[in-house]
Amino acid sequence: SATDKRYSVVIAGGGSTFTPGFVLSLIANEDRFPLRKLKFYDNDEERQKKIGDACAIIMKERAPQIEFSYTTDPEEAFTDVDFVMGSIRVGKYHMRELDEKIPLRYGVNGQETTGPGGMAYGLRSIPAIIEIIDWMEKYSPNAWMINYSNTIAIVAEACRRLRPHAKVINICDMPVALMTRMAQICGLNDYHDLDVNYYGLNHFGWWKEVRDKKTGQDLMPKLRDHIAQNGYWIGGQFDQETEKSWAETYKKAKDCYALDPEALPNTYLQYYYFPQYEVANADPHHTRTDEIREYRQKIVFDECARIVQAGTAKGNIWEASIEHSNYIVDICHAIAYNTHEKFFANIPNNGAIANIDPDSVVEVPCWFGADGVQPMATGNAGEFERGMMMEQQTCEKLVVDAYEQHSYNKMWQAFALNKTVPDAAIAKKILDDMIPVNKPYWPELK
Ligand code: NAD
Ligand code: LMR
Repeated sequence: SATDKRYSVVIAGGGSTFTPGFVLSLIANEDRFPLRKLKFYDNDEERQKKIGDACAIIMKERAPQIEFSYTTDPEEAFTDVDFVMGSIRVGKYHMRELDEKIPLRYGVNGQETTGPGGMAYGLRSIPAIIEIIDWMEKYSPNAWMINYSNTIAIVAEACRRLRPHAKVINICDMPVALMTRMAQICGLNDYHDLDVNYYGLNHFGWWKEVRDKKTGQDLMPKLRDHIAQNGYWIGGQFDQETEKSWAETYKKAKDCYALDPEALPNTYLQYYYFPQYEVANADPHHTRTDEIREYRQKIVFDECARIVQAGTAKGNIWEASIEHSNYIVDICHAIAYNTHEKFFANIPNNGAIANIDPDSVVEVPCWFGADGVQPMATGNAGEFERGMMMEQQTCEKLVVDAYEQHSYNKMWQAFALNKTVPDAAIAKKILDDMIPVNKPYWPELK
């Protein structure tokens, strides 16, 4: 029967630092989302092999019933799959480093998904994601792609324009990650325990309502108190392993909230509200990329090497912390079993935010089911939020214009309009430094 169905999944970006955690999460969720096949696909054979060989051991020990393999061949990767997980980073950490460090040369925010760095990353991702969608449609026309490769807002706008009928859902785990913090603040467990009204753009949104899902109790008063004093910082046991830059980010939410106490902010708003503070606090020679190289990436690859060397994955480091990946399994489950649970997606607005253009991509709560996602109506954006969003989404559209038209001026306008960039001359300097290093990935901008 349909309920006995077992699924075939391919992770595109098999060499991702998140892959082993995702594999553990899939195994832990076998009872509600059973697999018959798991594949990795990457265009960097060497990087993927390190993760793949360790995961092969995990699979053999924990889930020998699931057929496991990894490949760099698109036909092999995308044939006979039900779900494609998009987890690629075009240009890898080398390019992320340049996204962060080039703007900082000119006193501008240098960050993975916000400001000029985020737009540069988005422009690199567009062709690679389109290529994967096309392979999926060719080799497995019934499959769904759950994409979380950044810069999501720009990738989603490109999908809206270039592949409007593709079965691709662009998601981000930041809203649920913050909701798990909110749940903890209120003495609940995680995001599943909350019911919310949230609206905005990716890495650019606000909660206007948060309730206890079980009792319906309004949790906003309690959350307002906490966030006004501590931001999303909880401390104690919960924050024991939070990295330094994220600790600062959670605390900074206090200042974001002070500016706009109507709603609870997504942490990424700090880069738009306080760009000068961000630059003043950044070390132009040691950014988030360096931190990841020293911590997450190092830990993941060292652990994979250890597993391969030992020939066993017993006692591996991922058993305990798989929150990001659990969310993706939640989403696959909702689509596979048509549950119409409420999660978040980046999709064409079409009235979801009443006073925002229908053809712009927004991040809102959606029902997830066999038919994909249906956005919920969230009401009107506030005057302040609406102004912020219109500026930001225009930047995102201009990046996709630049991609389609190979237009230097559109990309320059995107940088110049962005809230994180003080003027058009500085925008030009940043763009002119970015063009040569992005040559392998960007269209030629004329
Ligand atoms: P990573 O650099 O560790 O891994 C990405 C992998 O993608 C690499 O192995 C790389 O070789 C591969 N790759 C690059 N271009 C490719 C292409 N064209 N085809 C196939 N493979 C390709 O990156 P990471 O830090 O693990 O992050 C993975 C992705 O997940 C990034 O896009 C990141 O921004 C995103 N991310 C999203 C969320 C979210 O919830 N939306 C959260 C965290 C990270
Ligand atoms: C990442 O982990 O690479 C991103 O999700 C965000 C960050 O800077 O930690």
